[in-house]
Amino acid sequence: KAVVVAIDGPSGSGKSSVARGVARALGLAYLDTGAMYRAATWWCLHQDVPLTEVDEVAAQVEALPLVMGTDPAHPTVRVDGTDVGEAIRTTEISAAVSAVATNLAVRAELGRRQRAEIETARQTGSGIVAEGRDITTVVAPDADVRVLLTASEEARLARRAREVHGTDDAAAVEATRDQVLRRDADDSTVVEFHVAADGVVTVDSSDLDLEQTVQAVLDVVES
Ligand code: CDP
Repeated sequence: KAVVVAIDGPSGSGKSSVARGVARALGLAYLDTGAMYRAATWWCLHQDVPLTEVDEVAAQVEALPLVMGTDPAHPTVRVDGTDVGEAIRTTEISAAVSAVATNLAVRAELGRRQRAEIETARQTGSGIVAEGRDITTVVAPDADVRVLLTASEEARLARRAREVHGTDDAAAVEATRDQVLRRDADDSTVVEFHVAADGVVTVDSSDLDLEQTVQAVLDVVES
């Protein structure tokens, strides 16, 4: 039977790496829904659309020529044929993405596309791990396994500092703090991802390394 695993969590919880690891271990497809919001943001900026123009942004996202590659060993993000995998990870996009993700028409459109990816994975029998902020609650509340990946603020900031600056010394953590906490606060105005919904299993990764966290989620899948 095609398994659908939904994983949500805040910035720096490690959900992308964990979700990929789980998908690889189980031979499932992998969908990074945050990358879809980032690609939508990249596209709007690329088209010179002011992100405050909610109707124009919604129209651009409805026409977004986005193709997600769902192989967990090599996930890809293509917009209009261009590989934007790196371009969507800049600090400029990270700072702008909440403005697009809090646009409710954008959420409806990307949510629809995410449900279509999940439905395809069910029908073809491949199964999928989908991760984001609202997968366990809004996009796939009917997933076979639903996990909220949490971590202490300290652990999340240290992780993000290592990703962005290559070190988690005090200066790097400080440089990361404002962006991470502001983005989570902005995102929280439209989706709840700090408290597990009914039936969602919380996995706290604060004191676990990647391998241990992947194993903890696999234990939930097998339970
Ligand atoms: O970089 P980080 O892991 O924190 O976030 P991401 O997974 O790359 O998601 C980037 C942004 O997309 C988030 O800050 C949210 O604004 C938005 N997002 C969302 O609104 N709903 C989702 N299901 C996934 C991401």
